[in-house]
Amino acid sequence: MSILVLGGAGYIGSHTVYELIDEGMEVVIADNLETGYAAAVHPKAKFYQGDIRNREFIDSVFDNEKIEAVIHFAANSLVGESMTNPLKYYDNNMCGTKVLLESMVAHGIDKIVFSSTAATYGEPESIPILETDNTKPTNTYGETKLSMEKMFYWVSRAHGLRYVSLRYFNACGAHVSGQIGEAHNPETHLIPLILKVPNGQRENITIFGDDYDTKDGTCVRDYIHVTDLAQAHILAVKYLMNGGASDIFNLGNGVGFTVKEVIETARKVTGHPIPAVTVERRAGDPAKLIASSEKAVKVLGWKPQFADLEKIIESAWKWHSTHPNGYNK
Ligand code: UFG
Repeated sequence: MSILVLGGAGYIGSHTVYELIDEGMEVVIADNLETGYAAAVHPKAKFYQGDIRNREFIDSVFDNEKIEAVIHFAANSLVGESMTNPLKYYDNNMCGTKVLLESMVAHGIDKIVFSSTAATYGEPESIPILETDNTKPTNTYGETKLSMEKMFYWVSRAHGLRYVSLRYFNACGAHVSGQIGEAHNPETHLIPLILKVPNGQRENITIFGDDYDTKDGTCVRDYIHVTDLAQAHILAVKYLMNGGASDIFNLGNGVGFTVKEVIETARKVTGHPIPAVTVERRAGDPAKLIASSEKAVKVLGWKPQFADLEKIIESAWKWHSTHPNGYNK
């Protein structure tokens, strides 16, 4: 029996595949390679190139392979783009999931782990954020992820499927081997953008606002290493295999760092002065996002290994300094 990883050539998907294979599991990947990279596909995984919106394609994967559970990363995930092109997010994220679920139900596949996001909460009502807090997304990306969670809920009630939804906070870092890492085009995330400065690809990093109500005026985020996220997916698959009920879990370190602290840590790790320039706030950025992941720790037995921001940035730097253009030569 295999685990099917949809979007296994993307950032978090590829790191999860590496961990699954390290655990001795059989892995099948399906990815349309729109935002993923063939070079990120683990050589021991079986790979199908195709789109989950294509029913024939996804049916053929389930017909050809013996799939025990699905891990679903196949979605668009850029907040800014989701605001200028919302229908792209409804089409890929929601229609893709609808077709996937139709095919899973038809094939009797009843376990799915889903890649969700802190963006489902919107502006937090309190810190740290709990899974039971209000969900009022402030962007289309978060809205579609929340709708996908609800789709799982109603389909699970009707068809007996079980799901685990994992709401990530700020995914970052790279595999310790330095073989795979973060590669978005365009890049919008803080840590890879900071590291473009010591890589000679940017003159400085821009800080989006220093007048927030935080200790140094810059936004606070909960940075969580991609390998820790990957481990949580494996625990979630095992939880479902052991008969666990459908549930939702936050994944973060429970510690917040300001943008200035992240830049300062990157200076220490790279030995580069990394000039920073403060500009206007970016629309839609909440001042503070910090997770309570106690539920994942308690129920799934999750233990993040990379609690230290310096270690996280070291792993990211190992990847970016050796792959300044990501997977492109
Ligand atoms: N930032 C800068 N300068 C930059 C880039 C980012 O100051 O050049 C700041 C942002 O304003 C924010 C922080 O750095 O305060 C982190 O920004 P990212 O873009 O790296 O991440 P976000 O917190 O905006 O987004 C992350 C995930 C999203 C998810 C969201 C949940 O990347 O997928 O958390 O709210 F939706």
